[in-house]
Amino acid sequence: MDLHGRVAAITGASAGIGLATARHLAREGVAVVLGARRADRLESAAQSIREAGGRAETVAMDVTIESDVTGLVARAETAFGGLDIMICNAGFGFYGTVEDTPGDTMRRMMDVNFMGTFYGARAALPIFRARGQGHLIVVSSIVGQRGIAQMSAYGATKAAQVGFVEALRTEFVGTGIHVSVVYPISTETEFRSAMERDYGHSVSGLGPRQSVDHVARAILECVRKPRPEVYPHGPSRALAVLNAVAPAFADKLVKKYGRRREIT
Ligand SMILES: NC(=O)c1ccc[n+]([C@@H]2O[C@H](COP(=O)([O-])OP(=O)(O)OC[C@H]3O[C@@H](n4cnc5c(N)ncnc54)[C@H](OP(=O)(O)O)[C@@H]3O)[C@@H](O)[C@H]2O)c1
Repeated sequence: MDLHGRVAAITGASAGIGLATARHLAREGVAVVLGARRADRLESAAQSIREAGGRAETVAMDVTIESDVTGLVARAETAFGGLDIMICNAGFGFYGTVEDTPGDTMRRMMDVNFMGTFYGARAALPIFRARGQGHLIVVSSIVGQRGIAQMSAYGATKAAQVGFVEALRTEFVGTGIHVSVVYPISTETEFRSAMERDYGHSVSGLGPRQSVDHVARAILECVRKPRPEVYPHGPSRALAVLNAVAPAFADKLVKKYGRRREIT
């Protein structure tokens, strides 16, 4: 896809993977509409994109409210004349055993991580269908492919995204509409500090890590050349294969490379 002049809407664009992806897309000439709850963070992000010569608009929104997500997409159409790329990225994590995971937390996480994605697809796909083209990108996690200890609730929300994307991909086979899922491994963002802020969990990853720009570049490549699945950390793809052929061995391996709580 020639990126110049395209339009993208991104949820969770006030920080981390969403913000880095917005910056990378804007540098390539894509007009970006940034959505998240913190309006001040969004505005300063948009300002820096504009100062660098890009085009950016912001919408303060909560992905758990469908009309907010519809509003994000509508802004893309009014400000930039359409929508080519929808990136459903907003999300948060929770660390703990099932007994330590309150039902309200599980529901909230499902609302943000999964329902936010569902609303994003519902808002963008009618536009893509009408034009016969478009690209829906869902940021899941490697734990959506293979769960890790103490993150069963989070893993469930990420696996839900994967099942959703696979079904959609099948519906659009052979059309100009692409649907992709991204499986980042542990990435340096505000993800861990958000868990600490909201739940008091200071958690560190035990396995390999990647930079936020590394993930954003992988997403940018997927926009340029659409593909069904993106593993920004290449070797992590092997985990999905290993899990399919030797799940008991995968259990032991993943236990070693999961996450660890530093402070309770
Ligand atoms: N970091 C990792 O290790 C990692 C690994 C695999 C997958 N991921 C996935 O990557 C995605 C992005 O996470 P990140 O690592 O970039 O974390 P992050 O730095 O904490 O960014 C999360 C973004 O989501 C937004 N957000 C949270 N709740 C929202 C809501 N209800 N409505 C709208 N926006 C909301 C936040 O903005 P506001 O607070 O301003 O709303 C923020 O912009 C998530 O889906 C996460 O599951 C992360």
